[in-house]
Amino acid sequence: MNTNKIPVIAIDGPSASGKGTIAQLVARKLGFHYLDSGALYRLVALKAIQLNADMQNSGQLAEIARNLNVYFKDEQIYLDGKIVTDDIRTEQCGIAASQLAAYPQVRAALTERQRAFRQLPGLVTDGRDMGSVIFPDAILKIYLTASAGERAQRRHKQLIEKGMSANITDLLQDIQKRDERDSNRSIAPLQQGADAKLLDTTSLTISQAQDTVLSWYNDILAKTRV
Ligand code: CDP
Repeated sequence: MNTNKIPVIAIDGPSASGKGTIAQLVARKLGFHYLDSGALYRLVALKAIQLNADMQNSGQLAEIARNLNVYFKDEQIYLDGKIVTDDIRTEQCGIAASQLAAYPQVRAALTERQRAFRQLPGLVTDGRDMGSVIFPDAILKIYLTASAGERAQRRHKQLIEKGMSANITDLLQDIQKRDERDSNRSIAPLQQGADAKLLDTTSLTISQAQDTVLSWYNDILAKTRV
């Protein structure tokens, strides 16, 4: 079947904006598949750390990305058959992911793996370039953000809930550095595309943000049915 007809909701945005939480909830509500593209970059980072790879060697990192032995099952992430769902969430992995995500060869190595998630009845995905590069024909593109201070609070809560240690001041600094690196890289930079709707969640609850996405999607469906 021509997968281009399968609806995709692409949610891009900066670090710790809550896009993953919203994307997952929307996917569940619609019965769609879900792709956390950042997890793939984090998995490459984890594998590179395990192999003690040279973080400046884009060829070696791309090779790791191409050969990544990973699968997603029942909300768990497996790398080489071992559950790494929490291991990839450390700040160390996030920072390394952001560094290696700047290499075009690494991004290219992950492109088809991401597109393979486009399956019936539809896909909700989140990342930095879902609407701009991976699924340019997505039916709904959203740029989901929140203030840096609010994002640091959210990331803090998330790490503490996972039993990891975290410090708000350090997290805020990490977030600002990551924003800068993700926004200024030459390939697939983080930015709001002209065709993406802005969703600022600074003062929205999770359920308000989820409802906004669902109502935008329903509006599009209503229009395409006419
Ligand atoms: O959880 P957080 O939003 O901090 O990051 P993530 O979505 O897990 O992604 C980790 C890193 O991977 C980001 O800082 C980006 O540099 C990179 N990434 C990317 O370049 N393109 C994507 N589609 C997703 C993530």
